Parts: sequence; structure tokens; C-alpha cells
Amino acid sequence: MSLLTGSTSDFFGLDIGTTAIRLVQLRGPSSPKALVKYAYVPLEGNVALSESKGDQQKLAKAIEQLVSQSGVSTKNVAVGIPSSRVFTTVADVDRLPGNELAKAIRYQADSLIPTPLADSKMDWAVIGDSPSDKVKQEILLSSVTNKFVEARLDLLEGIGLNVIAFEPDNLAMARALAISDPKAQLILDVGRLSTDLVVIQNGAPHLTRSIPNGVEAIVRATAQNLNIDAKQAEQFVFKFGMSKEKLEGQVLQAISGTVDLLTSEIEKSIKFFQTRYAGMTIERIVVTGGASVIPEFPLYIANKFGLNVEIGNAWRNVSYAQDRQNELLSISNQFGVAVGLAERSS
Ligand SMILES: Nc1ncnc2c1ncn2[C@@H]1O[C@H](COP(=O)(O)OP(=O)(O)OP(=O)(O)O)[C@@H](O)[C@H]1O
Ligand SMILES: [Mg+2]
Repeated sequence: MSLLTGSTSDFFGLDIGTTAIRLVQLRGPSSPKALVKYAYVPLEGNVALSESKGDQQKLAKAIEQLVSQSGVSTKNVAVGIPSSRVFTTVADVDRLPGNELAKAIRYQADSLIPTPLADSKMDWAVIGDSPSDKVKQEILLSSVTNKFVEARLDLLEGIGLNVIAFEPDNLAMARALAISDPKAQLILDVGRLSTDLVVIQNGAPHLTRSIPNGVEAIVRATAQNLNIDAKQAEQFVFKFGMSKEKLEGQVLQAISGTVDLLTSEIEKSIKFFQTRYAGMTIERIVVTGGASVIPEFPLYIANKFGLNVEIGNAWRNVSYAQDRQNELLSISNQFGVAVGLAERSS
């Protein structure tokens, strides 16, 4: 699914995250595509989120330098849109052939998306049969404001890039991380400020959510409860994590309330999914993003839900030289979005 589509096989994926910008270029017509280039640069402070002119210029400069240093061989780029900027919903629509379906969805869209249709870019993907209405089919509909897309386009075109597609971060991430399995799985990307959740069944995203809670809240709880500064708190979190033994379980105690706010939102989504699709059970959770490397965080989630929890491998559908394995796996938790964008068929 994309919110703007061209067609080219020569492009790279670009994830403008809260704490870093990452890019990935792959080669090849089919899966597994081969790794050509990857690169990333950390972002200072609020640059990625700020709409001030100065910060936008800093962001543009950082992307420009990253692209040039990375040595990617193309100006074509598929760009992620932060899930917090995307509205996503599931809707039932009539079964119609392609063109007519597009028309019918546009006709219905005004009542489905929160912003006026004229001010929004919209796209959808067919999920399958509607579980509630036998004559209808179900679609996953995404929309984003023209204002956001146009600002990003200006920024990227201003540094000589050619945007071939915009895609919500969570859908790109799910493409890279989902395990080939017809059973339902929940993919969780715990980022700096928010957590993206996608439920995939039979390869199709059925439910997406962005929960405004992530690593920053976990670090803040540690700083407050242990009365230490943010920098030290971050070190404690990533070193001792949710272990009962490390530091006498003090970090676990400091953060479990915050992590439980997150798990209770996850639980709501699991219930919602299993109510809507009677008979489909979520079999596993795949965790990625910053929190996936907090010691025992995945185990905590596994115990909470009594489900298999795996740490996602962003490179699972990518081929690369064996001697790069360690290097790639060490950054896998922050590359899901960029790899997923690079894995698009165009
Ligand atoms: N291996 C690690 N060790 C220490 N901290 C880490 C590690 N990996 C990630 N983090 C921290 O976890 C936080 C979230 O990382 P992540 O890469 O998911 O953020 P992001 O993609 O920039 O955020 P978002 O997806 O919300 O835009 C960041 O503060 C990052 O510094
Ligand atoms: Mg991220």
C-alpha cells in the first residue's frame, strides 16, 4: 500500500525516525533481494518532529549527507510516514472490479477518514472477505494530510531526491518482519515516543495501531523512580532491563508500571482482533525497535500473554554476504522500516 506510487525498480527505502535516519537499497526483482547499501545517522533532539524552518533545514541537510555518504546509486526513494501522522481504519466495501472499487471507496471515504477528502491522500489494500457481512469485502484504508506529504516532498525534492512512494511506517515494518506463516501474528515496534502494532494474518495486515508510549516513557519512569538523570536512566534500562536479579530488580520495579500501560493497550488490540475475527488466534508476537534490546523485555511480554515472542530480524528476507551477518544483526532492531520500504515491489 502506498500513498503515492510511481514505478521503478531502482530506489532506496528511507526511514526518518525520531532518533535516527536510516536508508536501505536492495537489488533484485524478487524475494530475497540482495543488500546493496545501508546507512544511518543519529538525529539530535527534536529535529525529526519539529516543524520549525531551522529544524527542517537541519533534517534536510542530515538526509542529504547520509544519502551522499551512503553511496546509493539512485535518487529514487520510497519514504516512510510516521504512524502517528497516518489515520488507518478497516472498512467493509462492496465487491467490485478495480476501477469501480476505487470510485466506491472515494465515495465512502468522507465518512471514514477524519480529515476532508480534498485535503488528504488516501490509499487502501484489500484484506479479504468481511467477517461481518458475507456479500462485502474488507479493506484497510490509510490517509494522511496533503499538508504533511507536501512538506516532506518539498524537503526531499529540495535535496534532489525523487520520491516514488510514501508508505506508513508500520506497514513497511510489517513487510520486513512478518514471519511466513498463515497464522495470525502481532508485530510490535517499540520506538522512542510511540509503539506501532500490526496484526498480520495470511500476509495481510488486518489491524494497525500507534500507541503513544515507548522507550522515552520507560527511561523517564526509571529516572523518576530511581532519582537519577535521564542519561544514567537510559544506561540502566538497556543494561539491566526487566531482570529480577540485576540491581535487585530495581529497574524492573521502576518501569513495570509504564510497560504495563503498553501491554494493556496491546491486550485490547488482541481482544479486538480475536472478537472481530472469530476463530483466528494470534500465535506469536514479533518485537522490534528500541525496546526489543532491553534485557528481558521480550520475555516479559511472552509471560504476560503466554505467547511465543521472537525478536524480529529486519534482514530475514534479504540476502547478503555471510561475513556481514554480525554487523547487520546488531542493528536489525532499528532497520525494520527502512528494509520494508526497500522490499516494496516498486
Ligand atoms: N542497542 C541499543 N542500546 C541502547 N539503546 C538503544 C538500542 N537500540 C535502540 N536504543 C534506543 O531505543 C530508543 C528507540 O529506538 P528506535 O530505533 O526504535 O527509535 P526510532 O525508530 O528513532 O523511533 P520512532 O520509531 O518512534 O520514530 C532510542 O532512544 C534508541 O537510542
Ligand atoms: Mg522506528
